[in-house]
Amino acid sequence: MAKHILSFAFHFLLCQTGRASAPVAPTPAPVAPIIDGNYTDKLAHLMIQALNGKLLPGASKTVCKAAYPFLLDTIVAIRVNYNTTMGIGTADSVVLGSDVVLHPMRVANFYGFMSNGVGEHLKSLNIFRIIFSMNSDKSHNTTVMALSPSGNESCVFANSQRWN
Ligand SMILES: *[C@@H]1O[C@H](CO)[C@@H](O)[C@H](O)[C@H]1NC(C)=O
Ligand SMILES: *[C@@H]1O[C@H](CO)[C@@H](O)[C@H](O)[C@H]1NC(C)=O
Ligand SMILES: *[C@@H]1O[C@H](CO)[C@@H](O)[C@H](O)[C@H]1NC(C)=O
Ligand SMILES: *[C@@H]1O[C@H](CO)[C@@H](O)[C@H](O)[C@H]1NC(C)=O
Repeated sequence: MAKHILSFAFHFLLCQTGRASAPVAPTPAPVAPIIDGNYTDKLAHLMIQALNGKLLPGASKTVCKAAYPFLLDTIVAIRVNYNTTMGIGTADSVVLGSDVVLHPMRVANFYGFMSNGVGEHLKSLNIFRIIFSMNSDKSHNTTVMALSPSGNESCVFANSQRWN
């Protein structure tokens, strides 16, 4: 039996090498990987960040809590329509009733989307940046950043606690 298979394989190889180009089964067209979905994240956590971007685990949250009681535990809706092959698309977020378009960040390791400015309403509340990130398993994080009344920090509201 084994000998038979070997012989077959040998003849197969002979035939293949004897041809200019071996016929191959047509490759099915790849399905374009698209992320098309609606997601929500609850901003259950507040972190304090220095102006240089460093998170400050020990910093007081008092002024941020007092300034943004309406952000803590608010739910952000995000509609993602993104072609992962092309890196083209957007994540449209709704924060406190305002639409904010988030653009691909083109970072490695996860799909990231970030606002390029916010509208008048959010600006008037001193909210300045929205970030949405998604892993390949579709787990996701939303971050809303606002100026702290302290003047030297940002109030970072997010659905998950994280430290850098
Ligand atoms: C996302 O929500 C929008 C608005 O409700 C809806 O039109 C769209 O079909 C939804 N997309 C998916 C993939 O569920
Ligand atoms: C920012 O200012 C506040 C109030 O003056 C102070 O408590 C805090 O340590 C300062 N934070 C940074 C990162 O310098
Ligand atoms: C996504 O990008 C791929 C690669 O360029 C393309 O073939 C495909 O048509 C795109 N899909 C959509 C829905 O735009
Ligand atoms: C979301 O946050 C969790 C917890 O901090 C972290 O482990 C994960 O890597 C984050 N995912 C993305 C896509 O940012």
